[in-house]
Amino acid sequence: MRILILQFSGTGNTYYVANLMKKAFTSHENEVVCYPIEKLTDVNELISQYDVFGIGFPIYGSDMPSIVKNLVETIHQNEGKRAFTFCTQMMYSGDGAAYLAKKLIKKGFIVRQCEHFNMPNNLRDYAKFLPTKVNYQKLEKRIGKKVNKFCLAIENNQRRRKGMNILSNFLGWIQRYPYQKMTKDRLIEVLIDKSCILCKKCVSLCPVTNFSIENGKLVDNKKCILCYRCINHCPVNALHINPKNNVDKPYHGPTANFKIDDVMKSI
Ligand SMILES: Cc1cc2nc3c(=O)[nH]c(=O)nc-3n(C[C@H](O)[C@H](O)[C@H](O)COP(=O)(O)O)c2cc1C
Ligand code: SF4
Ligand code: SF4
Repeated sequence: MRILILQFSGTGNTYYVANLMKKAFTSHENEVVCYPIEKLTDVNELISQYDVFGIGFPIYGSDMPSIVKNLVETIHQNEGKRAFTFCTQMMYSGDGAAYLAKKLIKKGFIVRQCEHFNMPNNLRDYAKFLPTKVNYQKLEKRIGKKVNKFCLAIENNQRRRKGMNILSNFLGWIQRYPYQKMTKDRLIEVLIDKSCILCKKCVSLCPVTNFSIENGKLVDNKKCILCYRCINHCPVNALHINPKNNVDKPYHGPTANFKIDDVMKSI
């Protein structure tokens, strides 16, 4: 089977799951390509080349990141084509992956598989109560098992639809409604503090080119989509969304030597 995986990953978790899925599919002699959504140009042309396609994303308030929402809006009506969805989350999203699945079903796709993967928290300035240490081996074992089951369901076209029920939909809505209200039509500003050493890492990492350098100063262009990539990877913790809490224990990804630039690469 020819399988296309489209993923957006702010800090590496969704990329990690997509990568494990690619390995699982490939070990069963499927042909798989995994693309970062932030680098996509013609999504419809790409989808047309594959038997099945999937979209993976991190959960933000039980919703999708706006970069994923915008992509989904550009996908054409496609009667009878198979698709699957998955999301990563720190705790719970209700109907996260099913929420996207329903949007694809409305466009004519057949979606029989959706899954949620619980991964480490990257929201290190808000959800401070959660553990910050990651046991990489345990994580790989737990997620690897779930990925294998999910991929087998996709290969055999078995129904496995996490979150596709009224209760999950209601619980998702409870989180999504205030999140969407809070972010609707609101330009998000990343606060830059004086400790910035102008290393330009945030400029090259941002998926929506939110930063520029003007007159020797780093400038925020209010395009932030809240992926938390720059906030977790600024070498001097100079970037903040939450003005009250610092990211004193940044999240550097789901493996010991995770390279954040990889999330922008096709695999
Ligand atoms: C703005 C924002 C909102 C989030 N909201 C939720 C949420 O509602 N539920 C949840 O379980 N995790 C939530 N998270 C945590 C992420 O979904 C989780 O850490 C995810 O695996 C990050 O994936 P990534 O590394 O691919 O970006 C949120 C993270 C961010 C940055
Ligand atoms: S990553 Fe941090 S130090 Fe580097 S330019 Fe951005 S804000 Fe400044
Ligand atoms: S400014 Fe930072 S948090 Fe916002 S989208 Fe860019 S990299 Fe992500």
